[in-house]
Amino acid sequence: MLGSYYANNPQPSKSSKVILISGLLVLGIIGSVAYLYKSPSSRLISLYEAEEREFQSFVVTYNKNYDSDQEYFTRLRVFLDNMAYIRVYNSMDQNLVLGVGPFADLTSEEFRSRFIPKSIENTAEPFEDFAGLTAPAQVDWRTKGAVTPVKDQGQCGSCWSFSATGGMEGAWFLAGHTLVSLSEQQLMDCSGAYGNDGCNGGFYRQAYSYVIANKGITSESNYPYTARDGTCNKTKASQFAASISSKVNVAGDNPTALQNAVAQQPTSVSVEADQPVWQHYTSGTISANCGTNLDHDVLAVGYDTTASPPYWIVKNSWGTSWGLAGYLQIAISTGKGVCGINMTPGYPVV
Ligand SMILES: *[C@@H]1O[C@H](CO)[C@@H](O)[C@H](O)[C@H]1NC(C)=O
Repeated sequence: MLGSYYANNPQPSKSSKVILISGLLVLGIIGSVAYLYKSPSSRLISLYEAEEREFQSFVVTYNKNYDSDQEYFTRLRVFLDNMAYIRVYNSMDQNLVLGVGPFADLTSEEFRSRFIPKSIENTAEPFEDFAGLTAPAQVDWRTKGAVTPVKDQGQCGSCWSFSATGGMEGAWFLAGHTLVSLSEQQLMDCSGAYGNDGCNGGFYRQAYSYVIANKGITSESNYPYTARDGTCNKTKASQFAASISSKVNVAGDNPTALQNAVAQQPTSVSVEADQPVWQHYTSGTISANCGTNLDHDVLAVGYDTTASPPYWIVKNSWGTSWGLAGYLQIAISTGKGVCGINMTPGYPVV
């Protein structure tokens, strides 16, 4: 190009060539200095055009603040590892779509470390197996107004309190009252005597036992969630917005019993949720790869036995930016169930 330009035009003088070359040199130096002064992280990400855009939109979407270049670089690397894992996983599991969610910058070890293994409560109470009942093929309590919006437990092991409020919110509504969001913080601060330990874990059943003994529970708005352990405010804890009289333990390892329970009302369940299928879940149905070492409480709000594979509709407490607007689907199966969902279900009775 340069040659043809010179062929049709008068040759530039020697001095203007010198000016041109020195001009380019100066621009080059300015450019290199500017490049060197860019942060190391932005230099690295220019190597990964597509992933750069994806990581940057992740940072914006989930409002991530990394306080050093070092941290940014580390999180970018973890994100890229996760993207590679997600691509491979999605090519192998046709039931499930993993993708970028709020935990895409955590290693699987970091994600797992947020969970506290549960020991299954030994109870002498009877278990309900609903023998003889026939449940409908599909149920979704969200469409009946029995489920409050998805909540977010944050970095606090208080899942059990969200599972419990969800169960009580549904029971209270189905008993003929207005749907009201109930207080996890009250359960966290006030149910220690029942074996719960705030952000360090608990069990939804023990939260039900506390509310039965306390004769009620207050509203979310009166005793709001802080994602931190606090001292029980006994005044607020006695300003009741709802109450329950008893709880039902659904027979374990029995998907028919669980189906009959969920057909009746939203039902608390415990699951294992510390695996990558939960970390990166975006849509579809989890049908494998999650284990049965229970470490998380959630709420079954419906099911669909006509789908392939049939699934439970489960309300989680990780905010609406996770999964299917905060929900997930877990395949219906026999025995302990996928993720152990059949193992320890239960619900409260108003
Ligand atoms: C407890 O709740 C009551 C009623 O809302 C409030 O007046 C009081 O200040 C609270 N106590 C503490 C220690 O926060």
